[in-house]
Amino acid sequence: MTHIIGLSGSLRRHSYNGSLLRAAVEAMPEGATLEIGSIAEFPLYNGDVEAEGIPTAVAALKDKVAAADGLLLVTPEYNNGIPGVFKNAIDWLSRPSSDIRRIFGGKPVALIGASPGNFGTILSQAAWLPVLRTLGADHWAGGRLLVPHAGQAFDNEGNLTDEVVRERLGAYLAGFVTHISG
Ligand code: FNR
Repeated sequence: MTHIIGLSGSLRRHSYNGSLLRAAVEAMPEGATLEIGSIAEFPLYNGDVEAEGIPTAVAALKDKVAAADGLLLVTPEYNNGIPGVFKNAIDWLSRPSSDIRRIFGGKPVALIGASPGNFGTILSQAAWLPVLRTLGADHWAGGRLLVPHAGQAFDNEGNLTDEVVRERLGAYLAGFVTHISG
């Protein structure tokens, strides 16, 4: 059974990216599971805080990512880049640096994202690439999923209502799982 951890980079209650992650859970192929991890309790990174010990929420998610077969990052886009909240979370997961190999080394990582704008997080997805390379992760580039005009893809309860996006999401996840297990 292939097991993936998925993280949304938005803390917003009605986040499109959180909604996309929940839709991904439903769209997973047979023989694979997607568990939603949370970055909501992560503090802002501060070396002084780290010196006192890795925060409990960070340590718990590190272990989950380390144990998972793959990682799915569902990223919003802020000012054509990575939102600070999400970068902060991945920075925490990379500490201490002696642990980077255990958490990210060779880890298959897939990137998707949703935005109300026209370009569906294309630039924030691109901005993640040097980060993933630095961490030694195995970024999966065999598929691409951008969800533009997100306000039209989800209803007010955050359910994915766009059947074309649902189909693309399913195909994307199937490709990622095949990459991991194949
Ligand atoms: C945005 N937004 C945005 N969208 C986009 O497609 N490209 C961008 O560069 C930006 N820039 C940006 C900056 C800041 C500071 C904010 C708060 C927002 C809009 C963004 O995509 C929108 O708020 C999404 O709803 C955020 O994702 P969640 O919270 O819905 O997952």
